Amino acid sequence: MTIKKKKNVCSFRKMKQNGEKIVAVTAYDAPSARLADDAGVDFLLIGDSMAMTVLGYENTLPLTMDESLHHCKAARRGAPDAFIVGDMPFMSYQVSCSNALSNAARYIKEANCDAVKLEGGTYAVAVVERLVTAGIPVVGHIGLLPQQVLAAGGYKIAGKTPEGAEQLLADAKALEKAGAFCVVLEGIPAEVSRQITESISIPTIGIGAGVHCDGQIQVLNDILGLFSDFIPRHAKRYANIAQAVSDALRRYSKEIRNSEFPGKDHSF
Ligand code: KIV
Repeated sequence: MTIKKKKNVCSFRKMKQNGEKIVAVTAYDAPSARLADDAGVDFLLIGDSMAMTVLGYENTLPLTMDESLHHCKAARRGAPDAFIVGDMPFMSYQVSCSNALSNAARYIKEANCDAVKLEGGTYAVAVVERLVTAGIPVVGHIGLLPQQVLAAGGYKIAGKTPEGAEQLLADAKALEKAGAFCVVLEGIPAEVSRQITESISIPTIGIGAGVHCDGQIQVLNDILGLFSDFIPRHAKRYANIAQAVSDALRRYSKEIRNSEFPGKDHSF
């Protein structure tokens, strides 16, 4: 029997040093966290993408701390030994460093998370330093920042110009210096991600950032095909769960209407 060792912040740096790819995925509740952990995923992000994927909001901006924590707690109950990262919602870390610290602490104390993630490069450095100094591990997030959708006028690939690429490199280095233990690179040209990955000692976790990152993260609903409309270019579908659910519910409805279900086997 192999005993699974719980990962910690040092595990990910070691994986980078050993050239071992880090596998991450979002999870939003107990069953998805359990399935991902049992499948051997290295870390679970209880992403603020839950606003769109499970709560039906148009973007991530309306998500509250309480909503986010509710899902983090569920994920932890489903996967007691997983490395779980809580994703700080819009305006939970921008108001002041002390407000950010109080909110980040809730992920650790109330939801038993292992770390928190927040969006932003150089402008987030003061907050990252404050959290790390207090003992809260932080995942940075640069490039396409979904919480900036209004300010940016949409979801835009970052780092396409030489100046943009320079800025991203500076952001990554600033986050490393501030004490972040890894950084998500979202929506960045593959070559720029390669340069960043080679320039910092902390792992880079890409989403729409090419193959050169130290690891990859995807939104669970995108890779499982849990909905049928839009597929982002960076996502690959490994299943078509929406179709399977729809087919199953149609068969279920039909069998009830035909009085086929419940049959003898499902009756007492
Ligand atoms: O909330 C989320 O799902 C994320 C990933 C896209 C990294 O932040």
